[in-house]
Amino acid sequence: MAHATRNVLITGAGSGIGAGVAAEFAAHGDHVHLLDISAERLAAVAAELPSDLVSTYTVDVTDYDGVAAVVAEIAGKGSIDVFAGCAGVFDGLAGIEQTTRELWDRIIDINLTGTFNVVKPVATEMIKQKSGSIVLIGSIAASRALPDGLAYDTSKAALEGMTRRLAVDLGQYGINANLVAPGVVKTSIRATSEEILGDIVPDTNVGVGTSPELMKMLIPMQRGGLPSEVAATVYFLSSEGAAYISGDVIHVDGGWIAA
Ligand SMILES: NC(=O)c1ccc[n+]([C@@H]2O[C@H](COP(=O)([O-])OP(=O)(O)OC[C@H]3O[C@@H](n4cnc5c(N)ncnc54)[C@H](O)[C@@H]3O)[C@@H](O)[C@H]2O)c1
Repeated sequence: MAHATRNVLITGAGSGIGAGVAAEFAAHGDHVHLLDISAERLAAVAAELPSDLVSTYTVDVTDYDGVAAVVAEIAGKGSIDVFAGCAGVFDGLAGIEQTTRELWDRIIDINLTGTFNVVKPVATEMIKQKSGSIVLIGSIAASRALPDGLAYDTSKAALEGMTRRLAVDLGQYGINANLVAPGVVKTSIRATSEEILGDIVPDTNVGVGTSPELMKMLIPMQRGGLPSEVAATVYFLSSEGAAYISGDVIHVDGGWIAA
């Protein structure tokens, strides 16, 4: 059954999974509010979507006031019905020896604090509305240590804790909060992370995502996932049919977590 047009805020919407989420919601007739640090990437994604269903905001998620202003602008025009938190950066496979204090701070600031920066004003609006749906993007890195670096693994594990606490706090208002944990997804995360982090990240061109042999060995489906496959799960978790699912982690990983 068709639903009324919803306002959907998507961070990290300029590329990969966030762009896939934008396409999925817009295809269902929702208005997508795309937030990203890159104006160029936002423009490219917006150009592919119906112009009456898209708004763009060039903001860094680490800018608490900047994010709050965007949330206030959207809420001022109506409601915030869904928040899909897709902004994130990758630290290669930097372990304890390669992780400098600067790299640690940047990864935690973007992946974890950056999510809080959006969740805080969004949840405040959703509590007023007494409705809404929050879907964060975590990673298999929360459960499997090797595919990513120390700070990245830590940030993604922390997002699972954040999701559970949000579910506890927001359930009474009819708001659900869940996390989608992808395995390997074909995106430009290596290039965008290098662009955003500069030379503080050792080498992003490593890991399961760049090794067909490792993928075949570790992932039962023997392939990387598509942004559209993650997006379909995000959409489902925000739908009426998932209204009673909250505080959960859903892996979209070709069976990797089971192996
Ligand atoms: N690609 C994978 O294999 C994979 C696997 C598991 C989890 N994830 C997670 O999925 C999410 C999306 O990753 P992706 O693979 O689509 O990467 P991507 O690089 O293709 O897209 C991420 C987008 O986030 C934006 N972004 C990064 N830092 C930002 C900031 N500070 N403020 C605003 N925007 C910012 C980037 O500009 C980019 O457009 C991330 O949280 C990532 O950790 C990705």
